Amino acid sequence: MTEKIKNIQVINGPNLNMLGKREPEIYGSLTLDKINRDLAKKAMGLGLGLDFFQSNHEGEIIDKIHGIFDKSVDGIIINPGALTHTSVALRDALLLMSCPVVEIHLSNIYKREDFRHRSMLADIVKGQITGFGHFGYEMALTAIADMINEP
Ligand code: DQA
Repeated sequence: MTEKIKNIQVINGPNLNMLGKREPEIYGSLTLDKINRDLAKKAMGLGLGLDFFQSNHEGEIIDKIHGIFDKSVDGIIINPGALTHTSVALRDALLLMSCPVVEIHLSNIYKREDFRHRSMLADIVKGQITGFGHFGYEMALTAIADMINEP
């Protein structure tokens, strides 16, 4: 019997569509498109399917999570941008999901302004990756691949 391909949803929140132009000294010089293309290559090697979603709107991100709720999604990688620090609604939406969720930040949020030290998601996600730039997305993908391939 052939094994069903595992699907990972990648979600990026507000302002991450501006990567490459946005404070490159903090977020690096790669565009989101380039990060996604590299991640897609990595996923192919791991035998995983990826879907990418970015929005600047909290409600759209929550609608996206509702949309995948009863679909076959095996993991979520999310960089919620500033919603990390503010959104109880995003936290509640992610609580619906039974698959592993990995929170990722390009910058190290704990080395920055105090208001960035609190994540509304940190205690409900499987794990958090923060401060490794674009490589954090690959780290998240590798971690999810390892988790979902566990017997
Ligand atoms: C971010 C960190 C957040 O504090 C910020 O609001 C972002 C990006 C990061 O990837 O480092 O938009 O999530």
